[in-house]
Amino acid sequence: MKAARISDSIWALHADIDSTDRFEGIWPIPNGVSLNSYLVRGEKTALIDLVRDWCGAAANLTSQLADAGIEPSSIDYLILNHLEPDHTGWLAEFKAQNPGVQIIATAKGIELVKSFYKIDEGLRAVKSGDALDLGGVTLHFEETPNVHWPETMMTFEPISGTLFSCDAFGSYGTLGKRVFDDEYYAEEHAFFQGESLRYYANIVGSFSLFVKRAIQKLAPLGIKVVAPSHGIIWREKPQTIIDRYLKYADYMEGPQEKEICVVWGSMYGNTKRGLEALLKGIEDERVPFSLHRVPDEDVSFVLADAFKSAGIVIAMPTYEYRMFPPMAYVLDIFERKHVWNRKALRIGSWGWVGGAKKEYDEKVASLKWTHVEGVEWAGAPDEATLALLRERGRELARAVKAG
Ligand code: FEO
Repeated sequence: MKAARISDSIWALHADIDSTDRFEGIWPIPNGVSLNSYLVRGEKTALIDLVRDWCGAAANLTSQLADAGIEPSSIDYLILNHLEPDHTGWLAEFKAQNPGVQIIATAKGIELVKSFYKIDEGLRAVKSGDALDLGGVTLHFEETPNVHWPETMMTFEPISGTLFSCDAFGSYGTLGKRVFDDEYYAEEHAFFQGESLRYYANIVGSFSLFVKRAIQKLAPLGIKVVAPSHGIIWREKPQTIIDRYLKYADYMEGPQEKEICVVWGSMYGNTKRGLEALLKGIEDERVPFSLHRVPDEDVSFVLADAFKSAGIVIAMPTYEYRMFPPMAYVLDIFERKHVWNRKALRIGSWGWVGGAKKEYDEKVASLKWTHVEGVEWAGAPDEATLALLRERGRELARAVKAG
C-alpha cells in the first residue's frame, strides 16, 4: 500500500490487518480491519495515531512514511487521540527510534502513556481549544471523552477541514488500495455499512450518549473530510458517516429499526419447534427479522442485529435449572452494551424442571425491555402451545410496528 494524499499537507497511511486474532481479544474480524494513521507536514511534522505491530503494521507504516519522504526519526510530534493499544502498541519501539519526539495527548492520555509504556519524558498534555502550529498548518484539539475511552480527543485541521476522529466514524473491513469513500461502489458501501454497524455495536455502542455529545460539539468546525483510524476516509460525503453514527447512537435507547432480532438455542429440537411457530406469527405481520443460533454464531454478529432492532426474541431451553449457558453470555453482552428499550419475548422448553425464566427475569431487569407475555412448555410443544406461540409472535410484531 502507498500513502494516499488528503491535501497538500496531509497523507493517509494505513495497514490492513487480516488475522484470526480477535479485535480487542473478543470480536472476530473475518473481513479484517485497517489501522489508519495520518501524517501532517508543515515546517514541522506530526504523525496522528500509531499502530499496534500486528500483521506487519509497523513495517507498513514505516514504508508509507518513506513514500511521503519521512523517516520515523524525523517526526517532531506524535499525536495520540486515543491510547488503546491498537493505536499505540508500537509506541515504545517508535520512541526508541525517535527519542526526541514530543508526544501529545489529553492529560488522561498522558497518564496512560506512562502506565502502558513507561514513557515519562517528552510528553505534552492538551485540552479542548489548544492548537499546535506546525508552520503553515495548524492542528486543533477537541476532547471527546468516552469515544471510545475517557482520554479520547479528536484533532482538526481547518485548511482542508479534516477531522482525525480515531475510533469514531470507524468500521471493520480492510481497505486495500482504496481508502476514500468516492473510490467504492454502492454494493461495497453496503458491505462497509454492515461492518460499521457491527463495529459500532461491538466497540462504541455503550458510549452512545458520548457519541451524540461529541458530534454536537464538532458540528461548528466545518468538517470536509472525516479521517478515522479504522476504515474508509470520507472526503466526498463526510456527512454520510456522521449521520450514520448519529442513527447508531439513537439505537441504544431508541428509536431502532422496526425489525426483530431472534436469538435462539435448542438442545434437542423442542425449543426450535416452538420457535418455528412463533416465526410464522412474525411473518403473518410482515415484520423483517434476523435469526441467530447460539452458540454457533459469534455474539459480535448477534449484537449488531440486536443493536439496530426494536424487537428481540430470546428462545432457549432450561439447562440445569437455569438459562441455556450460551444465551446467558449473549444477555450479559446485551447488558454491557446497553441494548435498552426493546420490545421482547422469551420462549423455551424445559425437560425435568424449569428455571430459565427466573434467571432470565433477573438478567434483563436493567435493560428496560417491554415484554410480550412469554411462553414455556414441558417437553415437546403440543398443538395448543404452537398456536399460542404463533399468536405471541404476531403480538410482538404488532408491538414493534406500533413503535
Ligand atoms: Fe481503535 Fe478504542 O481503539
